[in-house]
Order: sequence, then C-alpha cells, then structure tokens
Amino acid sequence: MLTLGVESSAHTFGIGIVDDGKILANEKSMYKIGTTGMIPKKVAEFHVENSASVLERALARAGVKASEIGGIAYTRGPGIGSCLQVGQTVAKTLAQRLGIPIVPVNHGIGHIEIGRLQSGLKDPIVLYVSGGNSQILKLSKGKKRHYNVLGETFDIGIGNMLDNFARGAGLDPAWGSTVEKAAMGGKYLPMPYTVKGMDFSFTGLLTHSIKQIKGHRIRDICYSIQETSFSMLCEALERALLVSNSNEICVCGGVAQNTRLKAMLSMIAQDHGAKIGYAANEFNADNGAMIAFVGERMLLAGIHSKIIDCDIEQRYRIDQAMVV
Ligand code: FE2
Repeated sequence: MLTLGVESSAHTFGIGIVDDGKILANEKSMYKIGTTGMIPKKVAEFHVENSASVLERALARAGVKASEIGGIAYTRGPGIGSCLQVGQTVAKTLAQRLGIPIVPVNHGIGHIEIGRLQSGLKDPIVLYVSGGNSQILKLSKGKKRHYNVLGETFDIGIGNMLDNFARGAGLDPAWGSTVEKAAMGGKYLPMPYTVKGMDFSFTGLLTHSIKQIKGHRIRDICYSIQETSFSMLCEALERALLVSNSNEICVCGGVAQNTRLKAMLSMIAQDHGAKIGYAANEFNADNGAMIAFVGERMLLAGIHSKIIDCDIEQRYRIDQAMVV
C-alpha cells in the first residue's frame, strides 16, 4: 500500500513514501538553527514555506503521482506545537483532497520501528536518544503491544542538553553534533553524574558545564559533557539489559548518530555478549519515512482516524501509543 508520511515535530519538515515496508522516498528540509536555537514560530513558518517543495520532491523521488497514494500518516507528537500543526494540516489536506485514510503516529514509535527494521533485531532493549527524548524501553508481550518505559530522563532529553550547551558556548551551529566535533582531543573535567536506577537527569550537568565556560577550554568541557552523559546512559542501559535478561540493543534517535556514544555502547554490548544495531543515520535524524513506515502498518491493520479527530499532542508519551 503506497503510504505517505509527514514529519514536522521539530526542526525538520520531512515526507517519506513507503510501499509494503519498502522506502521509496525520504525527502526533507531542515531549519538552520545558527547560534540562536529553535524559535517555534519561525520553525513553523519555515515548514509552511517548504512543505510543497518537499512533497513534490518526495513524489518525484518515489516516481508516483499523488493520486496513487493509498494512505496518509503524520506525526501527532511529541513535539513543538506550532511545528506539529503544520504537518497535521498538510496531512489532513492531502487525505481530504485524495479521499484516503489518515492515521496519527507517535514520533518515538517511528524512530524505534525504523531502527528495529534496519537493525534486524527482533526483541531488543531500546535506547532512544534524541533532542526531546531519552528513554530505555522494551516492547510488551501479548496482542495489544506498547513500549514499556524502563528508564528515562527526569528532566530534558540528552540532545536538548547538548544543543543547549552548544548555544551557551557560542558554537555554530548550536547542535550536539558541533559539541561532538569540538570534543576531539579534549581532556576530562569532573562533572555531575546523576543516575537513579534506570533513570537519569541532565540539567545539573548542563548548568555545571555552562558555568565552566569561563575558565576552561571549550574542547575540554565538550569532551567531559559527552563522556559523563554517555556514561550515564551506558550505566542505565547495562542495568536494563541485566534486569530484562535481553541480549539485543537497538539504539535510535538523533543522538544515536554520535560516534563516541556508539563506541561506548559497543563496549557495553560486547561485555554482555549482546547484539547492537542502529538505523542508518538518515533515519535516526527526524524523517518522514519512519512515519510512513509505521503508518502503513497501522493502516493495513485497519487503524485510521476521521479527519475531524486528527489532532496533535505535544506531550504524546510513547507508552500511550499502540504498536502494530
Ligand atoms: Fe526525533
């Protein structure tokens, strides 16, 4: 079934097209944050300006006409309200115009399910690390399945923490990926470390790191913030592996692209004889294909919504979303 997915939860406006689980197109436009970060109104305006051209590119890449699309999926949440609204409006307009079913999708489920598909892992412990989310999850058993949250951040997502630090340090662009580059060759500075069971917290680390900007090399702070926060994730993940008796780890979300985090997680996997897998970087970044992929499964299972009931939910928790 040709399914078109619309993603717009944050900086990326993406449209993906899948057919029977095969990705035919994954086009996107990404808001440039510079040194100021994301201003919701401006990001939403960017999405409005770019939605038509991204749609055109996706259809051209897939080699299909809009009239051939059989279903529409869109990101219901979690995310930035004004940005989610743009994707929701595009999706509802397309569904109305084409007279086809529409289904809302949880953004995190998109990340995880594309990660499971591409890693080939069957029943992994999931480490979902992105700007707005940091969680350790496991899929429930039985007919009505959902992801159980084994551990999560008490405050902000790890990506948000790294982006915030980048902004405070004047790095351009103010992304976690800029922190990763700046951390090369750094030396370790003591940092606050907060893990409670399988939960963790990043705001203390962020506040402390920003205070270190006067008096220390940015390179050393970048190195230390990464080593500390990634160690926190590793400790919690290791505990989850032992508690759940699992031997598979799937890592997904934007921060899963970080090479230092990958190296540290590989060591954990090796120590426990566990397999570790990721989606390709293109699909760990926000994208429309993951929404189309999950949406197609839901539509094929007969799950869809009336257009009038299609809403957005900024705090749409992953454990509230059914997994088909
Ligand atoms: Fe994301």
